Amino acid sequence: MKKRYTFIANWKMYFDFSESMNYVTKNLDQIISLADSPNVSIILCPSFPMIYPLAQIFRQTKVQIGAQNCSDHTSGSFTGQVCAKTLNQIGCRVCLIGHSEIRRYKNETDDMVAKKFDMLLDNGISPVLCVGESEADYKNGKTFEVVEEQLKRVILIVSHAVKKLNGMPIYIAYEPEWCIGTATTPPSDKLESVFAWISMQIQKHCPVSNWQLLYGGSVDAENVTKISKIPYISGFLIGKTSTTFELFEKIVKSTILGNIS
Ligand code: PGA
Repeated sequence: MKKRYTFIANWKMYFDFSESMNYVTKNLDQIISLADSPNVSIILCPSFPMIYPLAQIFRQTKVQIGAQNCSDHTSGSFTGQVCAKTLNQIGCRVCLIGHSEIRRYKNETDDMVAKKFDMLLDNGISPVLCVGESEADYKNGKTFEVVEEQLKRVILIVSHAVKKLNGMPIYIAYEPEWCIGTATTPPSDKLESVFAWISMQIQKHCPVSNWQLLYGGSVDAENVTKISKIPYISGFLIGKTSTTFELFEKIVKSTILGNIS
């Protein structure tokens, strides 16, 4: 398998502290060996309190630990928030931003997402910008319009920050809202056109090699092989299915097996 694939496990709030630790201790060797597979990157995104212990457990391995969100401020009177600098200090290397559940439940706006993105770059953390349209926007043919709005500030930031990037990957995860947790994935032709379009936007406005495009939304071991062959897709953001290690491992292995050339 020549192409490199990234698999990000978004544990959301499925696990409490003990359950996260049990998942890791029970499957430690298998997780490490999965991350040692050629051309594979494994990133686990637990809730905030588990980031530090997991980063310690995996510090001599290729497994990376990520966060599910960060503050759009650097410091100050922002009760309950966690800044990018702290995340970096506790071993977090990747951070999701703009996830539809945070846009929806916490009123996160594209401006807030752009500020978070900038702060993550300043602190050496790879952002995973989540974009995607609602079911209504999909049905009304507004996918490109919505995604363009979600992308444009971030593309501008990257084009002004090329020197800061230092080889750091920048992820864009296309996650149509109507596919998250629904056992539904978009038709292949739709995915092909969205990924080709995102890739074209990047090439046009900010042609650096740091970008990696991921798909998220009901990824499982059955659909992953087909989706992984779609041009420009180089990884997956996986929610519910990643909380059962055997299923997460199957997703990674099906991708590897399906792409041996
Ligand atoms: P899902 O979630 O895999 O459970 O659909 C993906 C996500 O929200 O990141």
